[in-house]
Amino acid sequence: MSLLVTGIGELVTGDPQVGDGSPLGVLRGAAFVVDAGTVRWVGDAVGAPAADQAVDAAGRSVIPGFVDSHSHLVFAGDRSAEFAARMAGETYSAGGIRATVAATRAAGDEQLAAQLSRHVAEMARQGTTTVEIKSGYGLTVADEARALALAAAVTRETTFLGAHVVPQEYADDPAAYVDLVTGPMLTACAAHARWIDAFCEVGAFDVDQARTVLEAGRAVGLGMRLHANQLGHGPGVQLACELGAAAVDHCTYLTDADVDALAASGVVAGLLPGVEFSTRSPYPDARRLLDAGVTVALATDCNPGSSYTSSMPLCIALAVREMQMTPAEAMWSATRGGAASLARGDVGHLTVGARADFAVLEAPTYLHLAYRPGVPLVASTWAAGRQVA
Ligand code: NIG
Ligand code: FE
Repeated sequence: MSLLVTGIGELVTGDPQVGDGSPLGVLRGAAFVVDAGTVRWVGDAVGAPAADQAVDAAGRSVIPGFVDSHSHLVFAGDRSAEFAARMAGETYSAGGIRATVAATRAAGDEQLAAQLSRHVAEMARQGTTTVEIKSGYGLTVADEARALALAAAVTRETTFLGAHVVPQEYADDPAAYVDLVTGPMLTACAAHARWIDAFCEVGAFDVDQARTVLEAGRAVGLGMRLHANQLGHGPGVQLACELGAAAVDHCTYLTDADVDALAASGVVAGLLPGVEFSTRSPYPDARRLLDAGVTVALATDCNPGSSYTSSMPLCIALAVREMQMTPAEAMWSATRGGAASLARGDVGHLTVGARADFAVLEAPTYLHLAYRPGVPLVASTWAAGRQVA
């Protein structure tokens, strides 16, 4: 069944070759045709070919579905008290992860799967059509493999994050934990994962441990990504650049040399403004990265500790208001930037050959995503040409 989406007031194609000449490729009065889940035709509505079905966007804006390139959705438990304590002056530390590890280990498979699908549905209602999901709250061979098997049931973009923190039972012997992560745990998890990740930060893993973990993942065919430079300056960004990781996320504390290394390597910098919002921390300087020519992705980092938001529109609004991104840059980073972070050519844009993943906004233009913060502007979300929310 082919589908014609017509009556589009403003279509964000993500194709710099069309429309207004900007990287977003904005078209007015446009239409597109979807067949077998793929965009087959894009152009002026007046010249649109016939299709089996039609959807009239009634003058509203249609955008590519958001590509959320960083989340931790397999978890149980609640850390709202920790958030409240932070808002009363406590600072965030990596150690809080262990509370979620205990709750996640204690949860049954069905409970975890139900919570995971609730969060994925919540994301879909906010326009997200691709989401990367990490393990990292199991930290035993069985619990990490379970998390990744559950994640793989809802997304292709699964990431093995056994190196999230050293669990309590290895507190006296972190080297043995790194051996477990790079040995039996990796063996059990690799089949369910596309990516490997590590948290390179004070209180988590140092640069040598992070290197060992990423290289072990690469040796079994996983792509590399890294959490780094979230809580302070450190060597993680340079490590990601040296190893040629697809992405290094957080990037809140950067030296000039870090920015230069990102620009020279082409590693995508993932910025996660929900974290700075929820930990009351300084936001990363997106302007500095963009001006240096770094590819920037925006993502939610949805997790129960540092950023319990599933909302890409919130991240766009924060990036525009607090990180000196223009609305166009933030829109690009939430779609094509996320796709670049995940090395995906088929998502984050609406051009011929792309997956037909899109959102219809209750707004005449994508600018409203930042202009009307906190307002539920996503009228419907479509994945591979089917309405999912
Ligand atoms: O990306 N930084 C490491 N991991 C998560 C936080 C996890 C937690 O606090 O539970 C993050 O911010
Ligand atoms: Fe994270």
